[in-house]
Parts: sequence; structure tokens; C-alpha cells
Amino acid sequence: MEVNNVELVMSAVAPEQYPTTGYPEIAFVGRSNVGKSSLTNVLINRRSYARTSSQPGKTQTLNFYNVEDQLYFVDVPGYGYAKVSQAERERWGQMIETYLTQREQLRGVIQLVDARHEPTKDDIQMFQWLAYYDLPTLVVATKADKIPRSKWNKVESTMRKGLGMTPDNPLLLFSAPQKMGKDAIWDWIETQAFG
Ligand code: GTP
Ligand code: MG
Repeated sequence: MEVNNVELVMSAVAPEQYPTTGYPEIAFVGRSNVGKSSLTNVLINRRSYARTSSQPGKTQTLNFYNVEDQLYFVDVPGYGYAKVSQAERERWGQMIETYLTQREQLRGVIQLVDARHEPTKDDIQMFQWLAYYDLPTLVVATKADKIPRSKWNKVESTMRKGLGMTPDNPLLLFSAPQKMGKDAIWDWIETQAFG
């Protein structure tokens, strides 16, 4: 999709605040600081539209981005950030669970993992949880620019094994600075959103 118009329509913590236009939605989940906002920005051709930061845990609400009046990207606050209190963690869990299990417009979830590391316990739990709820999921291993090309195959197999993916679960490597993987991710999104 050629994207020229994007608008942050809503920062929501509860279903009453979700947009009501009915466009298909694609959600972005992953550990805090993994690069969700950066991926979103590359997909919509913006340098810094979705807020990126070196401060993990910054994004605290579900942020709905209206893309070309055709779909929403939903930037989900990151999990697994150690400095967040137990109460905040529970509030986060509730908010995400409500959105992911009850949102009719949700067509697919992009789960980001860090290509440099084995998946964390939180990554594995999230992937298995999405599989349990039968949510179409694309795993994106990001920050691939930090890994030599010769190791990309190894990264992919480690990630697949660690997360417990089946061969038909899609996984792509991505790099925000190099925009690597952008077209393939868009293909997946368009298939999920528009069939
Ligand atoms: P939260 O909103 O806190 O959950 O973080 P986030 O997942 O949205 O991460 P964000 O996009 O803000 O990126 C976190 C840091 O990683 C920033 O310093 C980015 O510049 C950096 N980063 C993101 N993607 C990449 C990538 O593909 N390669 C490299 N080298 N750095 C990246
Ligand atoms: Mg973010």
C-alpha cells in the first residue's frame, strides 16, 4: 500500500474509546523497546510519527493509527518491562487481553522479537497465547541490521524453535534503518486486512 495519509485517531485504554469506523485492524505487540513504533513508522513512511524512544515502557495506551482511511494500525504498549509495578502490569494485561480477545475488527497481530536474542519468557508466552486464541500472527524478528547476514538463517531457526512455531507460522526478518522486510510485511498485512 502506498501510504500518504496517517492520523493518530485515538489513544485508548478501554473499549468505549476504540474507534467506531469499522476498518480492519492490525496490532503490533512485543517487548518494550523491541521496535514496535519504529516498524510502524517504516510501514507508514514516517520518520517519527509513532512515538519512538530510548525510554522503554513509554507507550502506555493502545494507539490507533488511521492509515489511508482503510485500516488501523494499533500500537500496543510493550510487555516485560521490569520497572513497571505489579499493579501496572495487571492493568496492562487486562487492557491487552480485552482488546485482543474481543475486538471484532482485529485481523492480525504482528509480534516483534529481537533478532539478537533468544525469545524471552514473555515472548514465548505471548506467542503461545496468540496461537491459543487462533489470532493470525506474523512474527517479525527486528534489528536484523545488528546481525551479520551469515547468521540470519540461524536467527530464524532459533526463533522458531524458541517460540514453538510450526512451519506454517510466518516469520520475517526486519530492520528499521534499512527498511528491510517492509514489502513482505505489507503483503502479509494486506492479505489479512483485505483478504
Ligand atoms: P515501547 O513503545 O517502549 O514499547 O518501545 P517500542 O517497541 O515502540 O520501540 P521503539 O520503536 O521506540 O524502539 C526502541 C529503540 O530501538 C529505539 O532506540 C530505536 O531506534 C531502536 N530500534 C528500533 N528498531 C530498530 C532496528 O531495526 N534496528 C536498530 N538498529 N535499532 C532499532
Ligand atoms: Mg512504542
